[in-house]
Amino acid sequence: MSEPRPHLLKVKNLKKYYAARQGMFGDGSGTVKAIDGISFHIEQGETLGLVGESGSGKTTTGRVILRAVEPTEGQVLFRLNGGGITDFTALPKQALRAFRRNVQMIFQDPYSSLNPRMTVRDIIAEPLVVSGLAKGSEIDDRVRQVALRCQLNIEHLRRYPHAFSGGQRQRIGIARALVVNPKFVVCDEPVSALDVSIQAQILNLLMDAQQEFGLTYLFIAHDLSVVEHVSNRVAVMYLGRIVELAPTSKLFYQPLHPYTEALMSAIPDLDPDRMMQPKILEGEIPSPANPPRGCHFHPRCAYAQEICKTTVPEFKEYKPGQFAACHFADQLQLQGALKSN
Ligand SMILES: Nc1ncnc2c1ncn2[C@@H]1O[C@H](COP(=O)(O)OP(=O)(O)O)[C@@H](O)[C@H]1O
Ligand code: SF4
Ligand SMILES: [Mg+2]
Repeated sequence: MSEPRPHLLKVKNLKKYYAARQGMFGDGSGTVKAIDGISFHIEQGETLGLVGESGSGKTTTGRVILRAVEPTEGQVLFRLNGGGITDFTALPKQALRAFRRNVQMIFQDPYSSLNPRMTVRDIIAEPLVVSGLAKGSEIDDRVRQVALRCQLNIEHLRRYPHAFSGGQRQRIGIARALVVNPKFVVCDEPVSALDVSIQAQILNLLMDAQQEFGLTYLFIAHDLSVVEHVSNRVAVMYLGRIVELAPTSKLFYQPLHPYTEALMSAIPDLDPDRMMQPKILEGEIPSPANPPRGCHFHPRCAYAQEICKTTVPEFKEYKPGQFAACHFADQLQLQGALKSN
C-alpha cells in the first residue's frame, strides 16, 4: 500500500438540517436531516467518491463543505499546501471571500449551471474577476490558457452556451472551476447528464487535470462503475449518514455494510456464469424528515435483528482504513461486485 498523504480536508460531525416545508411530510412540522453527523477526511491529491441513492445527502455534503449553504453544526477544516489549518466553517465574510478561490464546484447539469446570457469567455472569467486574482489582459490570457487545456476552441469564447453540446458545456464548467487554480473541487455528478460516449472524455479531462494541477476531488456519482474508475476511496451515504467508507477495491469487492452489498449486487455484470442474485433494494429510501429508528437501513436490510430497530450502530474502523456502521459488520460474510473478466 502507498504511504498515506497529508490530509487536505477534514470534516467533523457535519450536520445540515432543514425545516420541513409545510405539508411536505404530512404533519407540516419537523426537520429534514439532510446530513446528520458525518466525519471523514480527504488526502492531498486523492479522489474520494461519494455514492448513495438520490436524496441520501450527497449534494448537500458538497454544498456545505464549500459553504454554499451554512452547516447546522460541525467543522470543515482545510490544510492547503501542508500549511496551517483553516477552519472554513468559522471564517468571517472577508476571509471567506479570499479563501473561496481554493475550492470550486463542477455541477451535474451543464445545461442549467451556465448563465445563458453570458458569453463563454465571461462565464469562464467570472471567478477570476470576482476573486480579483487577475486584471485586464491577464484575464484574457488566463481564460485562453484554461480553455485550451479543457480542449475548447478559442474561436468559441465569443459564443453563448446554448450553441454547445452537453460535453462542450461541461468543458466550459470545468474551465470555469479551474481558472482560479483551486486546490479542492467538488464534482457533483459531472458526467451523469452526458451521453456515455462523451463521459469517458470528460472523466479523462478531470483525471488529467488532477495529475497536472495536484487537485483533490470529492467525486459524487450514482454510477458505480464511474466511481470505481476515478476514486481512491469511496464513502457510501444513506439517509444523511455515512454507512461505509473504504479504499475503492475493498468497498467494491469486500464490503462490510449490507447497504453497500445491495448497491454492488445491482451493478450489471457481463459474466453469464455469475452466481450472485441481485439484492433488490425494496421500497423507496425513507424520508429524512422521519427516518427509521435505530439503524436507518433496518426496514430494507436482509440481515436486520432486533437490536437494529432500536440502537444506532457506531461508525467505526473494522479493517485497516475500512469503516462501517453496522452492528454485525465483523460477522456477516457479504458479497461484493463480481469482476466481469
Ligand atoms: N433547501 C432544502 N430545503 C429542504 N430540504 C432540502 C433542501 N435541500 C435538500 N433537501 C433535502 O435533503 C435531502 C438530501 O438532498 P440532497 O443532498 O440533494 O441528496 P442527493 O444529492 O444525495 O440526491 C433530500 O431529502 C432533500 O429533499
Ligand atoms: S445494523 Fe442491522 S439493519 Fe443496519 S445494516 Fe447492520 S444488520 Fe442491517
Ligand atoms: Mg445530488
